[in-house]
Amino acid sequence: MPKYVSSLLVALGVVSLPVYADVASAQKLADKYATFAKNINPDYTPSAEAGKAFFNRKILVRGKEVSCSSCHTENPAAEGRHITTKKPIKPLAPSVNTARFSNLDKVETNFEKHCYEVIGRDCTAAEKADYITYLLTVK
Ligand code: HEC
Repeated sequence: MPKYVSSLLVALGVVSLPVYADVASAQKLADKYATFAKNINPDYTPSAEAGKAFFNRKILVRGKEVSCSSCHTENPAAEGRHITTKKPIKPLAPSVNTARFSNLDKVETNFEKHCYEVIGRDCTAAEKADYITYLLTVK
């Protein structure tokens, strides 16, 4: 298959990204979500600041304040800890954990699960793009 055809299929989400474990694949995923977000809102531009605010925003869930940082900690480059099971969670920042955001299926599954847990719905493409954009700034 010519390269442009395979990149087009990846861009369209027809095939998932190959599992390259590096920062570039996280950037590609951020770009992909940003493309979806732009289709919904042409004025959208990815924002690390919005991603950081989203990451730390506390929401009341069943009487408890929860945020993405509750388990992933306020420093995405650090090891996290699950608030219920107390199990350690590997850092989310691709700069320290290159396996992060390299497998689209895994990323989508986790986004869906944790977004429902914390905000009661799946995150939007814009929230996902901002989130990864923020994580890419964490060294
Ligand atoms: C209750 C604890 C908990 C909370 C709260 C939480 N997460 Fe997670 N998160 C986890 C665990 C556990 C994993 C998977 C562990 C692993 O892969 O090492 C994970 C992994 C992820 C991944 C996978 C990244 C990858 O490529 O491997 C994404 C994306 C993610 N979380 C997004 C979020 C978002 C967005 C929020 C806030 C809306 C959030 N998480 C809140 C526990 C949590």
